[in-house]
Amino acid sequence: MLAPENVRSIAPYVPGKPIAETARELGIPEGDILKMASNENPLGASPRALEAIRGALDVLHYYPDGAGFELKAVLSRRLGVPPESLVLGNGSNDVLELVARAFLRPGDSAVYSQHAFMVYPLTIQAIGAAHIQVPARNYGTDLDAIASAVRPDTKIVFIANPNNPTGTFSPWAGVRGLLERLPATVLLVLDEAYEEYLPDGLRSPTPAWIADFPNLVITRTLSKAYGLAGLRMGYAIADPLVADVMNRVRQPFNVNHLAMVAACAAVEDAPFIAKSRAVNAAGLVQLEDGFKRLGLEYIPSHGNFITVRVGDAARIYQDLLAQGVIVRPVAGYGMPQHLRVTVGLPEQNTRFLAALEHAAGKR
Ligand SMILES: Cc1ncc(COP(=O)(O)O)c(C=O)c1O
Repeated sequence: MLAPENVRSIAPYVPGKPIAETARELGIPEGDILKMASNENPLGASPRALEAIRGALDVLHYYPDGAGFELKAVLSRRLGVPPESLVLGNGSNDVLELVARAFLRPGDSAVYSQHAFMVYPLTIQAIGAAHIQVPARNYGTDLDAIASAVRPDTKIVFIANPNNPTGTFSPWAGVRGLLERLPATVLLVLDEAYEEYLPDGLRSPTPAWIADFPNLVITRTLSKAYGLAGLRMGYAIADPLVADVMNRVRQPFNVNHLAMVAACAAVEDAPFIAKSRAVNAAGLVQLEDGFKRLGLEYIPSHGNFITVRVGDAARIYQDLLAQGVIVRPVAGYGMPQHLRVTVGLPEQNTRFLAALEHAAGKR
């Protein structure tokens, strides 16, 4: 084997099971499958984004604008940061990897919480850097413990706020406190993939912090609230010097033309975002009520998903699958008794809860 040990020992990311594969295995039409496994938007994509894509089809023989000029102008206006502070990615996973490739080397270390989003350990492992996993507190990120875990060789701290798969949220004052404690030589990568789902009083203030903290990198995605997971579009906000370094390790055309055109329209699609937020908030309440009725413990969530303790999660997952409902096992996150379910439309949540009741009833 020519691949280095750190690469050979990567445990591959396990995505949500695809609808087509499940339909094939069960021998039922794809339309009968309910996928609530990958935190996708049950409303579909932003209608303004779809309309913009239709108008862009006749220029697909050209390479995209590798500098992303128009999208950066739109984002810069919306976020109140200069275009030089932006790095565009093929999904936010891409920008997470760009930070690691730009700033982490074998021999360095990176810090993240227990139950944190899986892509952080995968990325650290791919570089061959050392992992520092900090125990969670009540499933959430323990910011004090994170600050204390930083070593002289630490280059990056990864935090998702809200976190996936736990849905836990750390108040922004605490996150700022962590930034104040971190040495200036340690980057805080703050993954805000689910920021749009936070209630009004909790929305993120962090883009304005970039001016004070050159070691802060914020990542965002259009895969969740904007409904564009299949297009792959994410971005980072950082000090221009940090963004410049990240842009150097980026492939010249890492984001495709349709994704950028769609993103320009989607970020201005206020009615769609408002609807996504409202459907999600109501769906969370519906699922919580259902879990209470079934006597199941759940982790209160700030995302577009919720993680519930079902006991023998592997068996319940298979039972739900046999009923055509795909959810997400989280044993790989150290939570073998839990399942994560993406918030759906009211009728989808109802179907899921009925299937869960059926599965839980069979002991
Ligand atoms: C916390 C978190 N960060 C980042 C991502 C990556 O999303 P994408 O690469 O689609 O932007 C996800 C997706 O599930 C996530 O849960």
